[in-house]
Amino acid sequence: MDPRDFVQGLVDEMEALFSRLGEDAILAAESGGNVEVPTLLKLALQSELEAAELAGSWMPQTHDVEGKMLFALQCGDEMRHYRLIADRLAELGHDVEAFDPAAEGYSPLYHYLRGLRSTIERAAAGPFTCEAIARVRNRQFIAFCRSVGDEETALLYEDVIQPEEVHHHEEGRRYLERHATTPEAQEAAAAAVRTTLAIADELKDLAGKSTGLETLPVS
Ligand SMILES: [Fe+2]
Ligand SMILES: [Fe+2]
Repeated sequence: MDPRDFVQGLVDEMEALFSRLGEDAILAAESGGNVEVPTLLKLALQSELEAAELAGSWMPQTHDVEGKMLFALQCGDEMRHYRLIADRLAELGHDVEAFDPAAEGYSPLYHYLRGLRSTIERAAAGPFTCEAIARVRNRQFIAFCRSVGDEETALLYEDVIQPEEVHHHEEGRRYLERHATTPEAQEAAAAAVRTTLAIADELKDLAGKSTGLETLPVS
């Protein structure tokens, strides 16, 4: 299949899945129902750290410069997001120095991503899929911040963090369009996308999601 058609199919399937989410379903799922700005910012610290570590670990294992660039630039952005979110938590009166985002261990999704061995799977699962989830999550978070009168946190996400997560997703998409050119590569990429969606904490309340992508064309 033409790689651009293949990737468009993945995007369509993800959008179909996301369209079934309630307006704060991701926030409720990831926080166990504890939907408050500081709680959600602390969870975001863990996500940023995990994303930075994964991208950083993949960079030297990637042979093409385009892939190295994808992961290295993302790694730097995610760590900068970490600092911006930590600064905002401090402004809100939280002791960020004493907070260890990895205290409760890494997420199941992180462990799955760590086990991926090919750049095509890593690009599909990481920048392409996780960042698509982040975009939907952040959209919900921005609306939630406004609903509780926290305009400053809303603007931090709207003006700085969200555009960069969208950029990561689009860079992942471009990478797949250029490199998912064989039936084998497309099959591996589709499986990585599907598994990432199935494991992500943010989507765990979405009933029947594991069946959502089974009709994906893979060749
Ligand atoms: Fe980020
Ligand atoms: Fe990102």
